[in-house]
Amino acid sequence: MIFENSRSFACRLDQQDELRSFRDQFIMPVIDGRQQIYFLGNSLGLQPKRTAACLQQVMNKWANYGVEGFFMGEQPWLQYHDQLIQPLSQIVGALPHEVVVMNQLTVNLHLLLVSFYQPDQKRYKIICEAKAFPSDQYMLETHVKYCGFDPADAIIEVAPRAGEHTIRQEDVLQVIHEHKDELALVVWGGLNYYTGQLFDMAAITNAAQAVGAKVGFDLAHAAGNVALQLHDWNVDFAAWCSYKYMNSGPGGIGGAYIHERYHNDHTIPRFAGWWGYDKATRFLMQKGFNPTRSAEGWQLSTPSPLLYAAHRAALEIFTEAGIDRLQKKRQLLNSWLWFLLDDLNSRQSEPVIEFITPRKESERGCQVSMLMLQQGKKVFDELAKAGVIVDWREPNVIRLAPVPLYNTFEEVWQFTNILRQILQLQLV
Ligand SMILES: Cc1ncc(COP(=O)(O)O)c(C=O)c1O
Repeated sequence: MIFENSRSFACRLDQQDELRSFRDQFIMPVIDGRQQIYFLGNSLGLQPKRTAACLQQVMNKWANYGVEGFFMGEQPWLQYHDQLIQPLSQIVGALPHEVVVMNQLTVNLHLLLVSFYQPDQKRYKIICEAKAFPSDQYMLETHVKYCGFDPADAIIEVAPRAGEHTIRQEDVLQVIHEHKDELALVVWGGLNYYTGQLFDMAAITNAAQAVGAKVGFDLAHAAGNVALQLHDWNVDFAAWCSYKYMNSGPGGIGGAYIHERYHNDHTIPRFAGWWGYDKATRFLMQKGFNPTRSAEGWQLSTPSPLLYAAHRAALEIFTEAGIDRLQKKRQLLNSWLWFLLDDLNSRQSEPVIEFITPRKESERGCQVSMLMLQQGKKVFDELAKAGVIVDWREPNVIRLAPVPLYNTFEEVWQFTNILRQILQLQLV
């Protein structure tokens, strides 16, 4: 499509948008009486209007039935999980029984490493991205130590080349190859939280498995954002949070994928709890752990129906919008943002923004990360004053992510127009 930098063109794109009515299903933030332009769906997705009613249903059931809410009334809590895995499996490209909703992301990564990182003196190394999200770094560092290895020796980070911001796919594959005899595991962020770079997860999986290693992805910034095919890519395991692109609320319940080939494998260790016990006989309370033969067998504790309800409300909207339509709009919205930002940048007398997110469509999702070359923090503060919610990452990066469910083409135009005005203020 040939874009034109004008508000009327933006409005035309909105009129043609098949998903435009979905915005109305969300509560847009209003600060000091002013509706905000909210571009932080990559951090905390907005609240669907239906979530409060779904939570209220759980509260009512708790009030009316007490513990019998697990078994009685409409949507007994014991069966709630079944309603989540169908829509989720479509979002992550898995079979429904390969998906489980449980815990939080970092907790799930630790639990999955218990099963999929079984180092010995020969194969004990883990490859990950340099500057992975800090929680992943701490998770790997402490997990490796717990297994009796030295993180400095066992963890191999792949970094961007000197002078570059993103990691070259070929370098990831090369490092896997270099460590082929000692590599136990690759743990990778499918979409990097800082740069917005999307990786070729199928290629990483192939390369790692070809040398005898296992592969897991942190999909915090990928799930609900880009198209995923975890099962077809033959990924061993993955985990994500639901509070970013999946709009399931602050601290919302996490999720994990475990390839079906492991569901009946008794040789792999796991940390167990009663909620992972075979569903049919769980309440017989017998000795000896007998897992449910699906990803649900990795659960430990009683899940919160309140968190389930918030998740369900948000997932319903995904199903109604349709994954294909969401992907189509995501690509158009993102291309529109790039077009406007490029136009703005090219009109400055000196460069003000360096984009660290890859330009290639196959290497990015909703997010664009702008490295501000001049007065970045001031620009960010002015954006906030003007009612634009984006985020600031030290030392000099502004991240933003217009999302297809509730952001409009006009908002993207408004944002770049506000940014243009701010840059004029700063630079004159
Ligand atoms: C890439 C990535 N990994 C891990 C986490 C940590 O998630 P949690 O706090 O839910 O464990 C985050 C949180 O934003 C993240 O962005």
